[in-house]
Amino acid sequence: MSPTPPIVAPSILSADFSRLAEELAIVDPERDWLHCDVMDHQFVSNLTFGPIIVEAARKLTRATIDVHLMMERPWLMVEAFRAAGADRISVHIEACRETREVLRQIRGTGAKAGLAIKPSTPYAAAAPYLPDLDLFLVMTVEPGFGGQAFMEEMLEKVRSAKAEREKKRLDFVIEVDGGIAEATARVSREAGADVFVAGHSVFRAADARAALAGLRGAVAG
Ligand code: DX5
Ligand code: ZN
Repeated sequence: MSPTPPIVAPSILSADFSRLAEELAIVDPERDWLHCDVMDHQFVSNLTFGPIIVEAARKLTRATIDVHLMMERPWLMVEAFRAAGADRISVHIEACRETREVLRQIRGTGAKAGLAIKPSTPYAAAAPYLPDLDLFLVMTVEPGFGGQAFMEEMLEKVRSAKAEREKKRLDFVIEVDGGIAEATARVSREAGADVFVAGHSVFRAADARAALAGLRGAVAG
């Protein structure tokens, strides 16, 4: 069973991969998701990992695995990430030509479908797809790296998506990704976000378990 929002999703990107099992042990499958950032050195300048790390993570945790594909031609890899154990797969609108088709493809694998937008992409570009989504991912930093400063002006997109969801009685969760720590998680929650991706603020903290607990507390209620 997937937890109900608000949900914190620690991002593996900031974890120590030489101690992956210990790092992932802090993720509570009853409360948290695990966020996996896939970067291809094309859509973004950075290069991270493919399905084999998702497969390793799948063996290490029962938590919902939330895969964020920052890659060109994501549709070519959807099946592979699903087979590796992804529960949710998000693609970038900027990387898709037939966005609706890709979302349908993701759902066809049995995974939940997400759509992500970069800071420079307006809310209006994503709005037509909201009825087809399980998750709307609002980037609150420029995709590519962890540890960047939160862009508060992106919360307008969160507010708009939340209003549209209420107006049309849609059923998707709103995820914020980038620069999330206790204070930024709190303002994002107030704006209407449901899922809070956190890399540096969890895995680079002196006590990752305590940092995760602090974030859960910041968004609760
Ligand atoms: C950035 C990634 C994020 C990243 C967030 O491109 O999509 O998921 O892990 O890292 P922090 O929380 O350190 O900003
Ligand atoms: Zn991400």
